Amino acid sequence: MSSFRNLDNIDVRGKRVLVRADLNVPMAGGKVTDATRIERQAPTIRELAEKGARVIVLSHFDRPKGKVVPSMSLRPVAAPLAAHVGRAVAFAGDTIGAEAKAAIARLKDGEVLLLENTRFYAEEEKNDETFSKQLAALGDLYVNDAFSAAHRAHASTEGVARHLPCVAGRSMQAELTHLEKALAHPDRPLMAVVGGAKVSSKIELLQNLVAKVETLVIGGAMANTFLAAQGKSVGKSLYEPDLLDTARAVMAMARDGGATLLLPVDLVVAKEFKAGAAHRTVPADQVGADEMALDVGPATIAAFTASLAQTRTLVWNGPFGAFETLPFDAGTVAAARAVAAATKAGNLLSVAGGGDTVAALAHAGVENDFTYVSTAGGAFLEWLEGKKLPGVEALKAPVKIGHRES
Ligand code: 3PG
Ligand code: MG
Repeated sequence: MSSFRNLDNIDVRGKRVLVRADLNVPMAGGKVTDATRIERQAPTIRELAEKGARVIVLSHFDRPKGKVVPSMSLRPVAAPLAAHVGRAVAFAGDTIGAEAKAAIARLKDGEVLLLENTRFYAEEEKNDETFSKQLAALGDLYVNDAFSAAHRAHASTEGVARHLPCVAGRSMQAELTHLEKALAHPDRPLMAVVGGAKVSSKIELLQNLVAKVETLVIGGAMANTFLAAQGKSVGKSLYEPDLLDTARAVMAMARDGGATLLLPVDLVVAKEFKAGAAHRTVPADQVGADEMALDVGPATIAAFTASLAQTRTLVWNGPFGAFETLPFDAGTVAAARAVAAATKAGNLLSVAGGGDTVAALAHAGVENDFTYVSTAGGAFLEWLEGKKLPGVEALKAPVKIGHRES
């Protein structure tokens, strides 16, 4: 984290501070259905307001593709944001136009304004230079608090940082601190859990992680592709016949690099994929031709838990089974609870992220019991792939002229 400047390094009183938040929250019928991201972004906004900044919040919402789509307005987010910040949040119905400029001109020290969806402008996703400058002209300082959008090289996440002094907000700072502890400078042994449906969506992630960890645990339907690559019959299980060589390459990397690969040793199988389907537990090489694997079995969880006891740092992405369809949640729930217990006991630093993962931890009732749970989906995956995130890289740029250190 030392390489990133944060709110401690800037003097904000009386300044117009542009805060890039990620307010791309789940919404149904005009109501926010999960406020986690709002909760995570509120402290930065509150701190800036308390320090006397004129806070101007920027965010995208959904994918309007460069057009004004009224159902994708950020307007309904202003009230929940205000509730979490603990201050009024004004809203401007555009982003760089007359309404936004007038609202900014009216801001007093300590007041907060939310601007309309940056993606109503096609220039946002094109990272257009003129648009970036127009955004930059709205403020004196730029604070990026949107780790979950940092894999996008867009005007509000990357371009604007070239034109203003910039620092990481508190949520960005927390994400970077924990991800660095988990992967860049971990206490070892380090374990990665990679689950989910497809090897194809996680090739780079597997290749990056297998070279970094002592133990790589594979769960979910993607484990079937590995089992098939070992010559086991997977019956009707979901797997990717085109990815067998990729799975073999990952296994070879593990063998050559000295990483232990933990694949399921037993599976919960059923003849149909539906809640409450009749099922049985079988060794991983005994899946019947008319059966499909929907979860890992207790012997797999026992092996996982034994390995976990030796582990100091864990990174988790993806479930072990079809956890949304009961009772095929048992493996994921047991594994998540084991990680939570080891973390609580002070034996483990645990970091999880990626859309499905957070839902799985919440299902297991342990989303608050990991050391850190990222709000990021795609950005978390790209981090695990070892990629540089444009929004994070932009924060490393040299301090711009006119910037005053506190
Ligand atoms: C997310 O929800 O993952 C971020 O807000 C980024 O959104 P995007 O995938 O539409 O760029
Ligand atoms: Mg998304």
